[in-house]
Amino acid sequence: MAKLTKAEARAHARALELLDKDVLTYDERLFVLENWNEGANHINGVAGAFFTPVGLAGDFAIDAGGGRTIDLCAGIGALAFHVHWRGFYGRERNMPSPEILCIEINPAYVDVGRKVLPEATWICADVFGFDFASLGQFRTAIANPPFGATARTGAGPRYTGRAFEFHLIDLASDIADHGTFIIPQTSAPFQYSGVQCYRERPSADYLKFTQQTGIHLEAGCGVDCSYYRDQWRGIAPSVEIVCANFEDMPRNKNRSSPDAETELRALWNDHGIPVDRQNAVVDHIKAVARAGVKFEKCSTQGELFDESWLAKARAPF
Ligand SMILES: C[S@@+](CC[C@H](N)C(=O)[O-])C[C@H]1O[C@@H](n2cnc3c(N)ncnc32)[C@H](O)[C@@H]1O
Repeated sequence: MAKLTKAEARAHARALELLDKDVLTYDERLFVLENWNEGANHINGVAGAFFTPVGLAGDFAIDAGGGRTIDLCAGIGALAFHVHWRGFYGRERNMPSPEILCIEINPAYVDVGRKVLPEATWICADVFGFDFASLGQFRTAIANPPFGATARTGAGPRYTGRAFEFHLIDLASDIADHGTFIIPQTSAPFQYSGVQCYRERPSADYLKFTQQTGIHLEAGCGVDCSYYRDQWRGIAPSVEIVCANFEDMPRNKNRSSPDAETELRALWNDHGIPVDRQNAVVDHIKAVARAGVKFEKCSTQGELFDESWLAKARAPF
């Protein structure tokens, strides 16, 4: 367990008090993210559990994108929290939030995460033993995983090296269209943070990872992670934010859906349209088609998200 300073212990105690509440305000959730100390009651160093500083998590969300999202190794939800709220303010008021799933192995972190981001679905599980097939495809995978040779119970499907982060990205490439990750600078194929200008510098392990998996990691929009280097708790790591497009990789080409209904449902999932609404719309379109009504008379996509139209769609016509 980490030795906390008096100020850290006080702030952690205040975070614990807040967590006794059933529902936390936005500011209280931020306070918990900033001050609930991952090392207070856990040997977090061995588990590679160092939570992302709040400022870096906010910048990360710019690179992360959105749509149906899975946070692998979510901690108490620093990354997912910012992805959720960035998306929330980027959408029209009446557009529902896309689904966010957080997977985390430590049950105590999951309990806190459920209070910090109740909008997400939280699953307490080991990412290397989990059956992702049951969850379907995600638009985006995000993670700040444990780094390097941190102990694992399993491996990515293709990569055979030691780095936890590469195993995790390998795994993510099978379940998401694209991914954004925080990894050690030494694992990124470039240096951007803390140096005068961007330079390519792939390590031998990165080249092995690329060769084995077909995944290429790229820089995001240009977050200099060194700005937050001293804001981590217990460490001051040199990291980069990397992005990967999994959708266009040759091995994933056959993943794209061949029929219109599947594609539409994927779009609706991205926009968080609940399955029962989707079913009502699809049933309506099919019924209208059977009744011989011309396509031009059907509603536009925008109307499909509207409550009054959905009520109409459910009513017999
Ligand atoms: C570096 S921390 C980052 C947490 C969070 N993503 C963040 O950005 O604050 C890594 C997290 O991965 C969790 N973890 C480690 N191994 C895991 C596994 N096999 N499956 C799921 N979570 C794991 C740890 O408990 C820890 O919370």
